[in-house]
Amino acid sequence: MNPVIADESAIHKAADLLRQGRLVALPTETVYGLGADAKNPEAVKRIFAAKGRPADHPLIVHIPDKVALTFWAIEIPELAWKLAERFWPGPLTLVLKKHPDVPLGVTGGQNTVALRVPAHPVALGLLQAFGGGIAAPSANRFCRISPTQASHVEEELGDKVDMILDGGACQVGLESTIVDLTGERPKLLRPGQISKSDIEQFLQVKLEWPENNEQIHAPGMMEVHYAPDTTTMLCTTEEIVNIQKGITFQHQYKLGVIVYLSEIVGDANTQVVIMPKDAIAYAHDLYSTLRKLDNPEVDLILVEQPPQTEIWQAVNNRLNKAAKKFTDIENAGKNILISYG
Ligand code: TXA
Ligand code: MG
Repeated sequence: MNPVIADESAIHKAADLLRQGRLVALPTETVYGLGADAKNPEAVKRIFAAKGRPADHPLIVHIPDKVALTFWAIEIPELAWKLAERFWPGPLTLVLKKHPDVPLGVTGGQNTVALRVPAHPVALGLLQAFGGGIAAPSANRFCRISPTQASHVEEELGDKVDMILDGGACQVGLESTIVDLTGERPKLLRPGQISKSDIEQFLQVKLEWPENNEQIHAPGMMEVHYAPDTTTMLCTTEEIVNIQKGITFQHQYKLGVIVYLSEIVGDANTQVVIMPKDAIAYAHDLYSTLRKLDNPEVDLILVEQPPQTEIWQAVNNRLNKAAKKFTDIENAGKNILISYG
């Protein structure tokens, strides 16, 4: 499916397709979403089929404004209204108790629902033209890197989607921050550009968040996610240099190297991408860079570990899911030898 420029007539055509229960890929400020009418269970099933995603993984419902919250959620706490007022439209998803009218297919069978108002003119235009909620996970195949450009959606889903609206490259580049407000205390389920401390400072309330990268037990949250097909490893600068020079082990791999500080020079066997030193700009480029290096010309992707400070939390969270730690190199090497002969 070729992407189409998201002008007004394309947006109206997309709204018609949604009304017919079809799938429309749409740009948001975070990543591209694979959208369907959230109130149409058959359409929602098509999302799961197109992505190859298990049915118990809940979807995010996109709504046009905070007023629409009352159509989708019940017992909405004061904190939710405050967050909606402050951060919507924007890259923040709120998990709330679901309204009885929300089909269970959207929520993966749970009595909670994830909601957000996206800050992208095309997404908002489509929500307006359609007049309902749009269920939209990231428009990638299950466990793959989220698309941040319309062409990525085409690569991921081909003809499994009925229309791809092209609204340019996504401004944020990483998925939204998710906050669960259904428990006693608000809980951060997924870090994003809106950081834990942005929310804590604004609400004057601490968010629960498992420390030391402890696994979060939320549906659809998995350790391996957002991953390139090519083995990807997080390394210190020194480790990267040693691997490249063949000091760590005598390798014959073609390397893709993603650095932000070190000055590594590419050669016939090494493609080097120098990333921005700023966390926001780095996040913007991360998925498209991983996608670019995830090609048959690269056997192994090495990523220079960014700093462990809060501003890098969302980037590190995604890198920890996309990449193995360097200590796994022996095994990684074996896997590569097997798969590449
Ligand atoms: O930025 C984004 O959030 C993008 C754009 C398209 O809006 N969407 C996105 O959707 O990342 P997806 O499906 O790839 O990720 C949604 C995550 C799921 O992994 C799931 O864990 C969580 O949201 N989620 C959805 N509903 C939930 C619920 N009721 N309870 C807990 N987590 C939920
Ligand atoms: Mg996703």
